[in-house]
Amino acid sequence: MTSLAPMAPALAPPPGTPRLLGPRSDLRSHLGRFGPMPAAGRGLIDLAAAAGLTGRGGAAFATARKMAAVAAGGGGRVVVANGTEGEPLSAKDKTLLTRAPHLVLDGLDLAAAAVGARRRILCVERGRRDVVQAVQAALSERGDRRVELLLTPARFLSGQETALVDLIDGGPGRPTLDLPYERGVAGHPTLVDNVETLAQLALVARFGPDWYRSEGTPAEPGTALVTLAGAVTGAGVYEVPYGTPLAQLIRPSAGSRPRGVLVGGYFGRWLAPASAGVATFERASLGRWNAAPGAGVIAVIDESTCALAELTRVAAWYAASSAGQCGACTWGLRDLAGATAALGRGNPRRPLADIKRWLPMIAGRGACKLPDGAVGFLESGIEVFAGEIAEHREGRCRRPDRGLLPTPAPEAWR
Ligand SMILES: Cc1cc2nc3c(=O)[nH]c(=O)nc-3n(C[C@H](O)[C@H](O)[C@H](O)COP(=O)(O)O)c2cc1C
Ligand code: SF4
Repeated sequence: MTSLAPMAPALAPPPGTPRLLGPRSDLRSHLGRFGPMPAAGRGLIDLAAAAGLTGRGGAAFATARKMAAVAAGGGGRVVVANGTEGEPLSAKDKTLLTRAPHLVLDGLDLAAAAVGARRRILCVERGRRDVVQAVQAALSERGDRRVELLLTPARFLSGQETALVDLIDGGPGRPTLDLPYERGVAGHPTLVDNVETLAQLALVARFGPDWYRSEGTPAEPGTALVTLAGAVTGAGVYEVPYGTPLAQLIRPSAGSRPRGVLVGGYFGRWLAPASAGVATFERASLGRWNAAPGAGVIAVIDESTCALAELTRVAAWYAASSAGQCGACTWGLRDLAGATAALGRGNPRRPLADIKRWLPMIAGRGACKLPDGAVGFLESGIEVFAGEIAEHREGRCRRPDRGLLPTPAPEAWR
């Protein structure tokens, strides 16, 4: 039986203080802040289960269940730290890797020891030199030459776990139908974890499940990194306990009136301002609107920008992000992008009827979940911005496109 006792309680960050996001740390300050890395071994899987740790890459899957599946698999096991962060609005993983790279590397080491992995691979977007340099500096401070650093193309799909496995194996980065915990890198059982998940795991290993649960809610314990974006004061990355009211997180820009709140980023869903006013940052609350914390992006659109122009840009980005393997994704996302653009041009009813008809035909049809992201984004968008759609139909929208929802230009997707 594994002991669930905390290993170094004296150093645990006290309640109400950031756990992950301290000042930028080198190895010395990291050890000074958190103490040495414990030797948790396989018992870490029980600690993660007792803590109720869930993945921070978007799907909130139980981390311990994935670890146990990989640990029970065949030989040649691999752990992959997913720091690719291809969601254009999200900055939390890059911030974490720059400010606390050793916490992520501790998590990677601990997870590898827990599942008995032979290879440890850290994946980071190749275009972000600041992040790459922070990680390389941390690896060299640790004198660790065994962690493999893979620099990935700046595409949304790079972070999808089977596409990432394909990239690691030297492929073009296309999703497959394989389950990585069964058949991942080079065909071996592979634990793919988001870098924030691994950093949280490193804290659970040090301070124990009870400490981890001292923030958040009983059903959704702990803190999460959140990226605030759009028409807000204080855009940036914050660490918040699950269960925090969205109204506490969102401070609208001076003089601005929010028109819609996007929760979960481009992979998430829109909430009307009244709904965002009563929602809390947790699945139990956001589920009322079919939304979820996802990878922690919260973005606000106000009346200063044309909501339809913003939706159209993201719909086009989704279409361009498709790997072009599944029909519903390849053609469906292209048609959705075209119809959203037509809505913006004020075409009478037809594009809206088309979008509504196509959404259920596209949902759940891809080999990966990319099309589901587009469906959730547009389905909730046409509902929340119904007033703007009517304005366009009547030729009354005079708002500029402020680009509050940016998308990378395709030439940057290298
Ligand atoms: C289109 C798409 C893009 C994704 N991008 C990322 C990403 O950038 N980073 C990430 O950690 N997970 C991303 N994911 C989720 C991963 O597939 C996977 O679930 C995650 O890395 C598992 O880690 P976790 O259990 O720690 O959340 C993406 C999923 C999809 C469908
Ligand atoms: S759903 Fe789209 S992105 Fe995913 S594998 Fe199929 S074509 Fe590629």
